[in-house]
Amino acid sequence: MKKIQMVDLKGQFEGIKNEVNASFQEIMEETSFINGPHVHAFQKDLEEYLGVKHVIPCANGTDALQIAMMGLGLKPGDEVITADFTFAATVEVIALLQLTPVLVDVDPETYNIDPDKIRKAITPKTRAIVPVHLFGQVANMDAVMEIAKEHHLYVIEDNAQAIGANYHSKEAKTFKAGTMGDVGATSFFPSKNLGCYGDGGAIFTNNDELAHTIRGIVNHGMYERYHHDVIGVNSRLDSLQAAVLEAKLPKLDIYNEARKAAALKYTEAFKDHDKIVTPYREGDCDTHVFHQYTLRILGGKRDALAKHLQEKGLPFGIYYPIPLHKQKAYVDERYVEADFPVTNRLVQEVISLPMHTELDDEQIDYLTGIIIDFLK
Ligand SMILES: Cc1ncc(COP(=O)(O)O)c(C=O)c1O
Repeated sequence: MKKIQMVDLKGQFEGIKNEVNASFQEIMEETSFINGPHVHAFQKDLEEYLGVKHVIPCANGTDALQIAMMGLGLKPGDEVITADFTFAATVEVIALLQLTPVLVDVDPETYNIDPDKIRKAITPKTRAIVPVHLFGQVANMDAVMEIAKEHHLYVIEDNAQAIGANYHSKEAKTFKAGTMGDVGATSFFPSKNLGCYGDGGAIFTNNDELAHTIRGIVNHGMYERYHHDVIGVNSRLDSLQAAVLEAKLPKLDIYNEARKAAALKYTEAFKDHDKIVTPYREGDCDTHVFHQYTLRILGGKRDALAKHLQEKGLPFGIYYPIPLHKQKAYVDERYVEADFPVTNRLVQEVISLPMHTELDDEQIDYLTGIIIDFLK
């Protein structure tokens, strides 16, 4: 059996090696390292794939979120509602811009922001909602968009974990995750479903004016060379990373299918187990691209299972072990424990299993066998 890895980027590289090596060579020869033709070509390819008018590449997913909020003109003191159960980047940029993060609990099935909790958190200062499509599962965007429309709020989708996922709206339209809100932000961190070989990110929008504003913000607030009209940042996707993404994008659906196949095999192995809750599934599962395959382990056995896997040298991840409202940087007297029953429970029960495009049946059978034996 091949060694089981949490993420296997080497195996995936084999399939795109020739193309990536040729592009790297060309970029070196042409010294077109920044804003070269590969960045432009990837931007166009991604716009077409997502069915969105504008993709603005940038340096990473955290910048993408920050720039999206700057582009919308959010001001210090504005309240931004987001999920308590997510990676810290989401809340970090809200705090950095001196906006007020308002963390709310998540849905116990999807682990995504709970629309009822959003409604309860709205005040006259609320300006935006940031749904995070956690672990690859798209949040309930019909409900989020409805609330946003009713209360005149911006929606910024944190799509770092769900690129390629579909959302079927209640009007029977299908959208790509990240393209429904006013603006979407994604990360191309190497382990992401569409990952480069360093840092990278992008912002998506269908709004021409916002796209124009954001294109200046990523480039020091310049719309004309050396004319700085707004305060900006320096946030670029470099040509080498764009070349990797150009090679991977045509394979993204195949990669996501491979993740789904592995996820369904895990789920089949764990079905009907009284201590294991498998990830939420909808229809034929295309609203989930399994950035992570995350189980809930009931009966207080998660930590013991984690220890057992560690002793056996088997990889796993605990995403995330602490709710954001309890992280030192984000604690606030506004938060009341009773408001976070789901997140407080998830942090004690979740465990993510290896998930990537190269997992084979033998590895999955071995790993699921070990977990089922341990939980007997
Ligand atoms: C939900 C979420 N948001 C934002 C980010 C930030 O992306 P990056 O690491 O590219 O800055 C990540 C990355 O891990 C993420 O998982």
